[in-house]
Amino acid sequence: MRKKVGLIGYPVSHSMSPQMQNGAFEKAGLSYVYDKYEVHPDQLAEAVQDMREKGFAGWNVTIPHKQAIMPFLDEIAEDALKIGAVNTVVNENGVLTGYNTDGAGFVKGLMRHVRFPIEEAKVLIIGAGGASRAISYALSKEGPRAIAITNRTMEKAQDIFNECLRDQDQVISLQEAEERLFEFSIVINTTSIGMKEDRLPLRVDHLKAGTVVSDIIYNPFKTALLKESEKRGAIIDNGVAMLVFQGALSFEKWTGVAPDASLMEKIVIEELG
Ligand code: ATR
Repeated sequence: MRKKVGLIGYPVSHSMSPQMQNGAFEKAGLSYVYDKYEVHPDQLAEAVQDMREKGFAGWNVTIPHKQAIMPFLDEIAEDALKIGAVNTVVNENGVLTGYNTDGAGFVKGLMRHVRFPIEEAKVLIIGAGGASRAISYALSKEGPRAIAITNRTMEKAQDIFNECLRDQDQVISLQEAEERLFEFSIVINTTSIGMKEDRLPLRVDHLKAGTVVSDIIYNPFKTALLKESEKRGAIIDNGVAMLVFQGALSFEKWTGVAPDASLMEKIVIEELG
């Protein structure tokens, strides 16, 4: 019998994780099957109990259950505790542990483009939602020289600074970020602007050529920010890498082996058409 894994969320219909994960299981010769399960928020407790009873090896968790699932798990790993959200559950002999691979997955994708020692990097993070929190936490552990965080709502940036960043990091206004943009060697847009109105999250007149500019959005494939940054000589990266590497890290937690991430990326890009 194939081991069961999957995704719970509401909705889940748009997810490309089944194709990506099942392709990787097949390539690795592992007998697992990944399905998506639409779980209404009122049914979350029952769904977790059901997956427990059915002996799922683990599963991914997406919106709106990333926080809500925490009380139904047996253990929460440090990364998920700090980020305040679970995207991966692992079932080890009946003990359900919640992890968060979003931040570490993003960082893994980002590092493919960073051609200088990360200790020298000055990073700008735009946005202060859940994705920003995961990325801020994971990136600060890599030890960049400094991280500045900015957001439309400053209090939310301040909260992330307090909970996930370090003394040498800072909260700055959008205006200050625009004026000081040339200082940063890595710029990360974690806002949902690209998906909604697709305008620039801030002015990029002062962007330096060679800066790594990353946007967590993959649809559109190139947001206004990525297009404009590319014109100015930046090295750009979209949200496909975050999707792929958070999934690759989940795969590794369930199976104990690393998947073929290049194949997973190829599958996602094909699905996006
Ligand atoms: P998630 O938790 O999935 O990351 P979120 O909480 O909706 O999503 O946060 C999205 C981020 O995009 C936030 O930084 C949000 O800014 P606010 O904290 O000020 O709300 C930002 N964002 C979304 N729409 C925006 C818009 N139209 N203009 C500027 N920022 C926007």
